[in-house]
Amino acid sequence: MLNNRRSFLSKSFLAVTLGSLKWSDVLANAAPNPPSKGPLVIATWDNRKATAAAWEVLKNGGRALDAVEAGARIPEADPNDTSVGYGGFPDRDGKVTLDACIMDEFGNAGSVCFLQHIMHPISVARLVMEKTPHVMLCGEGALDFALKNGFKKENLLTPVAEKAWKDWLITSEYKPKVNWERHDTIGIVAIDQQSRISGACTTSGMAFKMHGRIGDSPVLGAGMFSDNEVGAAACTGLGEMLLRTLGSFLVVEEMRRGKSPQKAIITVLKRIAAKYPEQSRDNQIGFVAVDKKGRYGAYALQAGYQYAVYQNGENKVFDSDYLFK
Ligand code: GLY
Repeated sequence: MLNNRRSFLSKSFLAVTLGSLKWSDVLANAAPNPPSKGPLVIATWDNRKATAAAWEVLKNGGRALDAVEAGARIPEADPNDTSVGYGGFPDRDGKVTLDACIMDEFGNAGSVCFLQHIMHPISVARLVMEKTPHVMLCGEGALDFALKNGFKKENLLTPVAEKAWKDWLITSEYKPKVNWERHDTIGIVAIDQQSRISGACTTSGMAFKMHGRIGDSPVLGAGMFSDNEVGAAACTGLGEMLLRTLGSFLVVEEMRRGKSPQKAIITVLKRIAAKYPEQSRDNQIGFVAVDKKGRYGAYALQAGYQYAVYQNGENKVFDSDYLFK
């Protein structure tokens, strides 16, 4: 790195002496890791307990990866959160099946899907990233891997979730929709003091989904995507639309083209709404994003979406702006 930097500087100096570059350009480009405006963490919905856990890592100079994992673990362990981890509503066969993914500042990624009995799928996803040559493990294989690595097998179906499922069984009306105005998947992205960017996403998926259904949340680029050179994005909402469009990847690519996180998200939501007008009118999608400059954005298709931001020592929840007014 030092040698590369020296060689870059000497080439730059040559260019300056040749008059093709300004000194300000040379200095800006020479900085290997420009000063961050972070740390900052942003999460879908009113997940202030999650952003608070992430902030504990960030405020002490910790790594964004550790922060997003710590944040995601909060709703995973919360029995009152019916869309994530323990307490998540089951599928239509009464099984709680979990999806999660995580990405670090080097572009490494890990993911689990259709994982049962493990309270913290986000930590299993991280272990897939760190301990295997693979990116994604599914179902029984993911469970075996988790158990072999010290995770405990637990019953994740709480009495409240079981009752909701039994109530649903009475009509068994299959409506593959997500809630507009209540907590859903957590997507969480962060930039730390050293400008390292990471993201995580974790969910129990759509309530009473078909057994085996996988949403966007464990799919890199759909539920979450992070590129340390540019920024990270994560989302909540109807997984099928996000799987078809790789929404989080698109947001990062729009930021790469120079858009702010907010403008990038709006561009992507308009594109999704243009491609799938009817589904977009009837469903919710909400994004959060952060860029390398430490700017953040959030936007949704519909009213009712909230997001939580921890920055400058303050943990706040905001009502998101939205497309369909
Ligand atoms: N966004 C969560 C899901 O569709 O499963």
